[in-house]
Amino acid sequence: MALCEAIGLSRRFGGNVALQDVTLRLEPATIVALIGPNGSGKTTLFNLLAGQLRPSAGAVRWRGRDITDWPPHRRCRAGINRTFQVARPFQDLTLRENVALGLLYGRPLEGVGRRDALARAQDVLGDVGLAAKAGEAARALSLGELKRLELAMAVATQPALLLIDEVLAGQSPTAAQEILGYLARLRAQGLAICLVEHRLQALLAVADRAVALHQGRVIAEGRPGAVTKSPVVLEAYLGESGR
Ligand SMILES: Nc1ncnc2c1ncn2[C@@H]1O[C@H](COP(=O)(O)OP(=O)(O)OP(=O)(O)O)[C@@H](O)[C@H]1O
Ligand SMILES: [Mg+2]
Repeated sequence: MALCEAIGLSRRFGGNVALQDVTLRLEPATIVALIGPNGSGKTTLFNLLAGQLRPSAGAVRWRGRDITDWPPHRRCRAGINRTFQVARPFQDLTLRENVALGLLYGRPLEGVGRRDALARAQDVLGDVGLAAKAGEAARALSLGELKRLELAMAVATQPALLLIDEVLAGQSPTAAQEILGYLARLRAQGLAICLVEHRLQALLAVADRAVALHQGRVIAEGRPGAVTKSPVVLEAYLGESGR
């Protein structure tokens, strides 16, 4: 049984088909890279898996159970969490408080009170290179720092499946390397990770498997090196950038 399964997922917005008949399995201790040109449906798939959107057709299964109708907070407590392409923390709270909220409202942890949550939040911020800024308000952060804060907030909910939407955006090469190293450590702890990223080279270093979307459909799937070099994938990227 897969940890999480998308089964024939489709989603329409009016006449626009954003996702069509997408089937995908996500397994523990595995990083799947989800690639595809702008508008190919990557974020829509995350919205369907994490519950921000309902599919027009198809189903989402979690540990074999149909969760298609579950709202996001219920999926979060079950172990699914995600970052957003456009980060949206509580602007006036400190980084430490934002991450502590994830700890308090994610998967229940035995005996974690407010004070423990703040101490643990500090540790998670250290993992994403933000320890020194833990006491600052989220509104003071750069784009790259915001994306790392979002990652920390999602990790703090103790997910079994983590969906990450373009966390490398705005990162320096050093910060990007650190994040990829961190994701590899999370995988070693058993997390299933699905990673949306436009920096394909960076993905090759860390992903176990790649899935390519184009116009809402899966056009290639397999080893990352093979998928990123596949003619249909290259053609999809060239076609979209030439429009
Ligand atoms: N809420 C919405 N309402 C209407 N159309 C939408 C909505 N969300 C997405 N779409 C459309 O669905 C398609 C897929 O969009 P999506 O955001 O999933 O692509 P993406 O692969 O994440 O792109 P990007 O790489 O630019 O982030 C696009 O045509 C987009 O315009
Ligand atoms: Mg997107």
